[in-house]
Amino acid sequence: MHDAWSSTLEATGRIELSDSKNLWGGRFTGEADRGFVDFNRSFGFDRRLFAVDVRASLAHCNSLASAGVLSGEEAKKITEGLQTILDRGIADPGYFDLDESEDVHSFVESRLVELIGDPGRKLHTGRSRNDQVATDLRLWLRDAIDDLVQRVAATQGALLDLAESHLEAVLPGYTHLQRAQPILFAHWCLAYFEMFSRDYERLVDCRKRVNILPLGSAALAGTSYPIDRESVARELGFDSVSRNSIDAVSDRDFCVEFVSASSLIMVHLSRLAEDVILYSTTEFGFFELSDAVATGSSLMPQKKNPDSMELVRGKAGRVFGHNTSLLAMLKGLPLAYNKDMQEDKEAVFDSFDTVRSCLDVSATVLRNVRLNEDQMRAAATKGYLNATELADYLVSKGMPFRDAHETVGRAVVRAMQRGIELQEFSIDELQSLSQLIQQDVFEVLTLKSALATKAQRGGTAPDTVAAALAKARSTLLG
Ligand code: ARG
Repeated sequence: MHDAWSSTLEATGRIELSDSKNLWGGRFTGEADRGFVDFNRSFGFDRRLFAVDVRASLAHCNSLASAGVLSGEEAKKITEGLQTILDRGIADPGYFDLDESEDVHSFVESRLVELIGDPGRKLHTGRSRNDQVATDLRLWLRDAIDDLVQRVAATQGALLDLAESHLEAVLPGYTHLQRAQPILFAHWCLAYFEMFSRDYERLVDCRKRVNILPLGSAALAGTSYPIDRESVARELGFDSVSRNSIDAVSDRDFCVEFVSASSLIMVHLSRLAEDVILYSTTEFGFFELSDAVATGSSLMPQKKNPDSMELVRGKAGRVFGHNTSLLAMLKGLPLAYNKDMQEDKEAVFDSFDTVRSCLDVSATVLRNVRLNEDQMRAAATKGYLNATELADYLVSKGMPFRDAHETVGRAVVRAMQRGIELQEFSIDELQSLSQLIQQDVFEVLTLKSALATKAQRGGTAPDTVAAALAKARSTLLG
């Protein structure tokens, strides 16, 4: 049906009319512009909510039947219809392709009306797409979080396996990317394990605020039908029901929390990627990536490129972008629902997809990396990584730390001039720096001692690391 205004615009070529059907036709006399219809549609991406949308509709139907709003017969028809739609959607991905629905909610409702006729037109009683979409997204995200925590744990498992199979390996620890102090390779693995433990906890914590039922808030004011929200929550596995209908339909904090938690996972994966990339260069020579996760060069035959880790590092940026776009989208929105919020889904979906694939690829890289332990050990024993040990030795003999620092600094300069390491000085040379130095200094300057003395909780001493590793393993299993 065209009104005069649309006809005028159409005649002047300023709009192109669409013949699409929608859920809110009654109020309108004019047709929508085709460009706008496409612009407005979310079905291209929110079809991912299909299964949870049907599940939530099944629960809504039950609650309407219990409240006496639907007859038993109507509820039965709706339930069977929804089940048929769900089965078909799962079995046949092409089911969605030719459809021009505005969004997943209108898609399911149209299919239901096609299938069972009038009772299908009653399903939307007492509900709005505003509480419906919030419910769907929470259901979807709950599953997504459950999936990701498993993958975070799998990546942690890969780190522990790697550490446990290289208990003797050492490498130089760096600060400012300058050789600093020797560390156990397992200690390095456990550093990443810790980051992922926090990520795991953040996801689990975020899930608590995801798992609250908005359905029953309707458009914004709450529903006038006597549905039992608690029982809907139980049926859908929510922990509780939302306490304020206005907030329930306009809250997307849970999306921001999820994408922020995802951003930190990407920060950690990206740092891991950077370490692995550096350590796999000829310059470092500590790691060799498996052929399974590297690529060659189309031109330079000798190349083995760490594309897997570079993509993980690169993809971090997309998730940070989603985090920013969600915050910017929500900021300044008046209460309650606004269509701006439709932009939430792609940010959430793509963050999930990205984190999921990056965790998987990183775990594969870790499971297949080869260590060049000789090279790692050589690097950990060259470049004065034991200078701090010498300073601590002088402190143990009574010298104030500041003076010890100064003395060792001079020793390093001298060693550099002669192209030797500190342990290669003769005892006389060392004593010319300080009379406090005795023969026992050479033991202190060994790699073994440098590691063994870091025996406080959290340090890199082999026994301490072995205990930390065992603890990490039991946390992961527990
Ligand atoms: N596709 C919409 C979204 O994702 C569903 C909710 C629409 N609600 C509305 N009042 N137009 O947010």
